[in-house]
Amino acid sequence: MGDVRHLYVHLPFCAHRCGYCDFVTVVGRRGQHAAYIDAVIAELELERVALAGDLETIFLGGGTPTFTEPAELERLLRALPAATEEVTVEANPETVTQRVAALLRANGVTRVSLGAQSFQPHLLKTLERQATPDDVQRAVRTLRESGFDNVSLDLVYGIPGQSASDLDSDLEKLLRLEPEHLSCYELEAKPGTRFTVAHGDELARQADAMEGYFEEVVERLTAAGYRWYETANFCLDGQPANGRDLRALHNLGYWHGQDYLGLGIGAVSTVAGERRRNLPSLPRYVAALAAGEPPPREVEPIDDATHARELLMLGLRLDEPVALAEVDDAVDRDALVRLLDHGLVEWGTNGHGEELRLTRRGRFLGGGVTSELLVAAGD
Ligand SMILES: C[S@@+](CC[C@H](N)C(=O)[O-])C[C@H]1O[C@@H](n2cnc3c(N)ncnc32)[C@H](O)[C@@H]1O
Ligand code: SF4
Repeated sequence: MGDVRHLYVHLPFCAHRCGYCDFVTVVGRRGQHAAYIDAVIAELELERVALAGDLETIFLGGGTPTFTEPAELERLLRALPAATEEVTVEANPETVTQRVAALLRANGVTRVSLGAQSFQPHLLKTLERQATPDDVQRAVRTLRESGFDNVSLDLVYGIPGQSASDLDSDLEKLLRLEPEHLSCYELEAKPGTRFTVAHGDELARQADAMEGYFEEVVERLTAAGYRWYETANFCLDGQPANGRDLRALHNLGYWHGQDYLGLGIGAVSTVAGERRRNLPSLPRYVAALAAGEPPPREVEPIDDATHARELLMLGLRLDEPVALAEVDDAVDRDALVRLLDHGLVEWGTNGHGEELRLTRRGRFLGGGVTSELLVAAGD
């Protein structure tokens, strides 16, 4: 038996491909859902030896997990081991019917992460989303009626055509739905994609506004009582959380540098000093597992220096300190002094040793501060 306590399963199917999306997705193919689920279950059996007896978290991501044929989704959920802390499923609003919500609830799912993205019809159209603002509201209501008390909503900002007042309105509508958790992402547009070519000039204008949008998101959500616990993530805290830890616990394991097992096409795992990345081809994945073989994948070792760099980069995204002893080899001490002087980093000690975290101002500058703090690779 192994000691991996976090399991990710990739369900790649979507009804349609949104222009900005760069995830591993497959449009439609209803006839192949059963074969894919067979393959995922076969991969789980091959890799089960890496898992601890008691898993903490499971995350079904996509793609659109809730677009998977309901009977197949249910078969998968029943085949997965139990998890003590959290079982999250990502969902697109228009797929959340009473039947799907009840199916998730009856099969151990404790948290649903809904991709709202925006509440402005013209921005949803630009993103090529299928859901309307009403669909998002209806999905949240359906989840509540089915008993879900942990719902997360995703928002993106920096969408071509977006104005500051669009963002204000999106934040207000999000807050009115009273989610336990929120993820707010800057829209990333990959160079050379159809979306980037179509919206190039407007994307450049949005990039100039991004810093202001980010500050607005943080100010507004923290003023509404949400904890800004990770660069792009917020949760209810204190009294409104009723003593529950409403951070995304699966992702928290990843941000803390813990090992996780990923199943499915494109899924990544870090297990015992290795990073494995399953290749994105659906037919090759299904064929390998049908033949009892592991899926085609890339494997790279994670040496101690790489692990320390990753722990520092991910750890500084959080609102809690990083133990310096665990990342010491990755920290440029001269840069640390400069960043302390500029009030971007805080340094302290606790009973166990030194620790670091970004100040509020440092967190707004985020990646720029972290890259200055990192020793150059290979030093
Ligand atoms: C892997 S997607 C899958 C969720 C679901 N299929 C949906 O579209 O709502 C998870 C989240 O990543 C975010 N996301 C996807 N593409 C993005 C992009 N290009 N830039 C920023 N965020 C993105 C969206 O907020 C989305 O809800
Ligand atoms: S529904 Fe989600 S995963 Fe599917 S293409 Fe759209 S953004 Fe990507």
